[in-house]
Amino acid sequence: MKKTTETNSQTMPIVIPKSGSIHEDDKTTDLVREELHRLIDQVFISRTHIKNRVNDLASQISADYSKAGISKVHMIVVLKGATMFAMDLVRAIYDLHEISVKLGYIKASSYGRDTTTSGKVSITEEIDGVQGKHVLLVEDIADTGLTLSRLKSYFLKNKKAESLKGCALLDKKVRRHERLKELDIDYIGFEIPDVFVAGYGLDYAELFREIPFIVVVNEEYFSNR
Ligand code: PRP
Repeated sequence: MKKTTETNSQTMPIVIPKSGSIHEDDKTTDLVREELHRLIDQVFISRTHIKNRVNDLASQISADYSKAGISKVHMIVVLKGATMFAMDLVRAIYDLHEISVKLGYIKASSYGRDTTTSGKVSITEEIDGVQGKHVLLVEDIADTGLTLSRLKSYFLKNKKAESLKGCALLDKKVRRHERLKELDIDYIGFEIPDVFVAGYGLDYAELFREIPFIVVVNEEYFSNR
């Protein structure tokens, strides 16, 4: 795998405009798309694009930690949506042989994600063993940013982690909570518009988590069922 030469720790996200869907050209996906054609509007981010981007992120993350002299990282996966992304990311990081990763999982629930409310995020499963460690938080999507922001402070203040970096595959920046406009996310896969996406771990009413690419859900179909 090609290593990145960038010195900036912020990986530049790829911005996907609403009008510019990316078409999946692999056969399996076409078949699946046929089966799902009533449920989805479009394949939004193909497997190939996801794979390439995950490899980029793995290179950047490995390079940044190694440059900082850090060889061991605690990757904390935010359940459930981030699982598929995190497993691909951890494999890609492993293949680079630059840093070692210890895996952990956390579950957070949020209430009142409306951008005009304060919004509360509670941690429903506690985690230990990260005091003095370097934590890399892995999320599938940052929307209002409340989950990421709450978990950052949880790890740094409550759990006394030595450092914390956030990584989100998708960033729906336009939905950011008004008090989190400046939220710093260290690694972003794709910046996306305000469309309802699912797949690659993300769900729509617990559907689509298993499909290996990201789709825009046909909300009209669901609302008329
Ligand atoms: C989703 C997603 C993120 C969070 C982002 O989780 O997986 O963790 O919302 O939203 P925010 O930026 O507005 O806080 P969800 O609660 O839907 O749980 P799930 O991952 O189990 O589907």
